Amino acid sequence: MERVAPTTATAMSEHWNARAWKFDAAASHRRDASSWRAVFEAALGSRPQDVVDLGCGTGACALLAASLGHRVTAVDGSLEMLSHGRTAAAEAGLEIDFIHSTMDEAKLPASSTDIVTIRNVLWTLENPPAALALAREILRPGGKLLLSDGLWYRQRVNNSREIFGTNLPFYNGLTETDARALIAGAGFRSVESWRHLMPGDPYGSVYDDPDTPITFFVLTAIAPE
Ligand SMILES: C[S@@+](CC[C@H](N)C(=O)[O-])C[C@H]1O[C@@H](n2cnc3c(N)ncnc32)[C@H](O)[C@@H]1O
Repeated sequence: MERVAPTTATAMSEHWNARAWKFDAAASHRRDASSWRAVFEAALGSRPQDVVDLGCGTGACALLAASLGHRVTAVDGSLEMLSHGRTAAAEAGLEIDFIHSTMDEAKLPASSTDIVTIRNVLWTLENPPAALALAREILRPGGKLLLSDGLWYRQRVNNSREIFGTNLPFYNGLTETDARALIAGAGFRSVESWRHLMPGDPYGSVYDDPDTPITFFVLTAIAPE
């Protein structure tokens, strides 16, 4: 299987280690929790299932899924981001299996989970299709992928090569069209959108244009039987 971040993983973990202390206060990562909870409940259901959250950060999605009764494993390459997630889970009395690892080195077994969530991670990846291939591999047949991300910048010069050593193809973010192409490329089917359940523009304006709201998508798709 192709690597998700063959050359950028270490620089990426350092990047998020340095930002972990302020991440929960920034652009809605834990804000709007009740709207996100409604999305997760509608999209994933509340019958307890196995969930893997790839690139869990400070645990926003993992906490939501666990609060709905799912059994959650949450993986992240940044120890500092995970440490905030661990504290939040303990405070909420939720049991989540946090794993400190890049997602493709976490040794997640094939066909071992019912649901994979990947929110706001694809834009940080060197090889986004490999993340979807990994999701497909660890999902049981007929399992569900929840993929969410947005278009965070409009005109930022892609200087990711200078910062991370390699070009990140979606450094400014992704459109729903980009995501649907990635989902189809990984062989998922039955794509559904849940964006309509999030009122307004929860992420605010794009970071380089105060007049343009951040467009984002929340999609689910089904792994082949
Ligand atoms: C923008 S944050 C999103 C966090 C969380 N999913 C959320 O929605 O709040 C991106 C996270 O992806 C993690 N990440 C990036 N590349 C990764 C990789 N290859 N393996 C595991 N985690 C990764 C980063 O460490 C960071 O915590």
